[in-house]
Parts: sequence; C-alpha cells; structure tokens
Amino acid sequence: MNDALIVDPSPANIRRAAECLRAGDLVGIPTETVYGLAADAMSEDAIAKVFAAKGRPATNPLIVHVHDSVAAERLIDFDGHDWLPGMFRVAKGFWPGPLTIVVPRAPLIPDAVTAGLDTVAIRVPSHPVTQAILRECGIPIAAPSANVSNYVSPTAARHVASGLRDRIAMVVDGGECDVGIESTIIRLEEAGPRLLRPGGVSAEELRRDFGSLLVKRAGKGDSQESMPAPGMFPKHYSPRKPLSFAKDLKPIDGQSIGHIAFKPSTREANRVWLLSETGDLHEIAKKMFANLREADDSECDVLIIDECEEVGVGVAIMDRLRRAVTK
Ligand code: TXA
Ligand code: MG
Repeated sequence: MNDALIVDPSPANIRRAAECLRAGDLVGIPTETVYGLAADAMSEDAIAKVFAAKGRPATNPLIVHVHDSVAAERLIDFDGHDWLPGMFRVAKGFWPGPLTIVVPRAPLIPDAVTAGLDTVAIRVPSHPVTQAILRECGIPIAAPSANVSNYVSPTAARHVASGLRDRIAMVVDGGECDVGIESTIIRLEEAGPRLLRPGGVSAEELRRDFGSLLVKRAGKGDSQESMPAPGMFPKHYSPRKPLSFAKDLKPIDGQSIGHIAFKPSTREANRVWLLSETGDLHEIAKKMFANLREADDSECDVLIIDECEEVGVGVAIMDRLRRAVTK
C-alpha cells in the first residue's frame, strides 16, 4: 500500500519526526512491543491531543519514553525513598526493552501525563528507530499504544494509519513489532516490585532479577479503583466482530467462522489464521494483534481464538485475550 502518511525511517524522516514532536504534533512511532502515539511529554497541549485522538479517558495516565536510564532518572523523585535506588538499578537491567516502571514522579512532569497521580510510568524502548527519534528530539515522549481506545493494539505502521489517519503528522515505519504485545508494567514499592500489567518481560524473569514479585490479578468485574493499572479495563483490545474462545462458541447454522489458531488444528472453520506451526508463545504474541485485525476486516461473521498455557509471555497473551473476548 502506498500511503503518504507512512514514511520510511531514513535519517531525514527521523529528523522530521523529531521536529514534529518538538512542535507539539503527534507521530506514530515503532517500538519493539506495539506502535506508540508519540507526543512531547512536557507539553500540556500535545498531551491533550493524545487523549483526544485516542478518545482516551483523562483518568488513564500515559507512559513516558526516554532513550536511556540516565534520562529516566531525571523523571524520578528519589527523595525520601531510600529503597528506590537499589530497585531502580535492577529495573534498568531490563532496558532498553519491554519493561515499564511506575515510580514516584519528579515535579517537572505535567499532571495531564500522570492523570494527577504522584507516580509516573517510564520506559526505555529498544527499537532502533524510536531510539534514534528519542535521541534526535531530546525530550521525554509520552506514548500510549497507537490505537483508538479499546480497539486492538497496532503492531504495524498501517494499523496506526488506519485508526488515527487525520489526527497525526506521520507514522514512521519500523516494520512489524518484534514482541507484539505491550510492555510489562511494574510499580516499584518499598516492599518490592508489584506487577500491574503482564507483558513482554515475564514474571519469571522479574522474579529472577528482583528476587520477588508482588502480584494482584485483576479479573472481570473488578471496579476501576481496584484495578492495578488505571487503564486495565475488563473490556479492551476488542475487535468489532464477536470474538470468543474456541471452546466457548456455540455455532449457529449459516454463520461463517474465522479461527485464529495458535497451532495447526482440525477444528472446522471457514477461514483460519495460523499464528504458529508449533504453538510457540513468542510467535503467537508477535502475530496475535495483526491477525485479530485481519480477521476483524474479513468476511467472517464470528471469530474464535485459541488459548495458551500461562507461562512466560503466555500470561500476557491470556490477559489480553480475556479482555478481548469480554462482551
Ligand atoms: O509497550 C507499551 O507499553 C506501549 C508502547 C507504545 O510503549 N505503550 C502502552 O501504553 O501500552 P498504553 O497507554 O496503551 O498503556 C499504558 C498503561 C495504561 O494501562 C495506564 O493506565 C498505565 O500504563 N499507567 C500509566 N501511568 C501509570 C501510573 N503512574 N500508575 C499506574 N499505571 C500507569
Ligand atoms: Mg493500550
């Protein structure tokens, strides 16, 4: 597809993207997890544009992206938190990469970014294109996933363009996202790191490096106050077509079924999107959102999807799918 909004990551386009960001415009950027809708984190006006473009409630704070851990330190309030430097040292071992930390915020961060919370979520993404953009523009960049609120997350430049076309200056094409599922979010607390959202870094890896991990799982029916991260709504990541787990579908005569399969299967369906020949969890995570979008745009009436074992990145896959199938 030839789309003028989508630009290749040439040095000239990286400079242009940085200029747009410094001017307060929105830019679609590739990260290793999903594409982000980027804006100058220090500009209240730019942040207001992000919330408006996504149709995102102002109570749902944004993640701030910086190019390295030294830039991250400037956003953190270490004062009076003598437990924090040690934990931050462990956290930065996961950077650059798909880990977001929630920490006490420095006063310079606008309230709009953190939805008035006294903490800020920070991440150092590893994607080379976004690393280059962050270094070029030299300001912290707030970036939620670049989808309209509650729709399936974007893992390719065309996904960003299709949802947000007239609200952004450009999308820098960094190819298909490698991880394919959002970052893991942990809050650093005196008692240890607490898992707020499972994601690209597994709980097993966090436990190995931190020595512990506090976990509180949010299930269907939780009130917003009791949810670990303000944006973890019970219904989220949802296609427009009815989606259910394969085991839960009660077929109706004449209905055309699209099956998003995690490995080869004998189940009858009108169309099959096969994510992996072997059921490999990383491959499934990488392809899941793109195939959900494709299936949603297909002629099928209803969609079914497989489930996977909840180990490693499988926890994040099932977390997203439970929300995606929620009516
Ligand atoms: O992989 C990712 O994290 C992607 C890429 C673009 O970096 N970003 C992303 O952003 O997933 P978003 O806005 O779709 O999800 C951010 C989540 C939301 O659930 C939000 O409520 C939570 O992070 N969050 C942000 N700041 C927080 C804070 N101070 N405390 C608790 N949760 C926070
Ligand atoms: Mg999101």
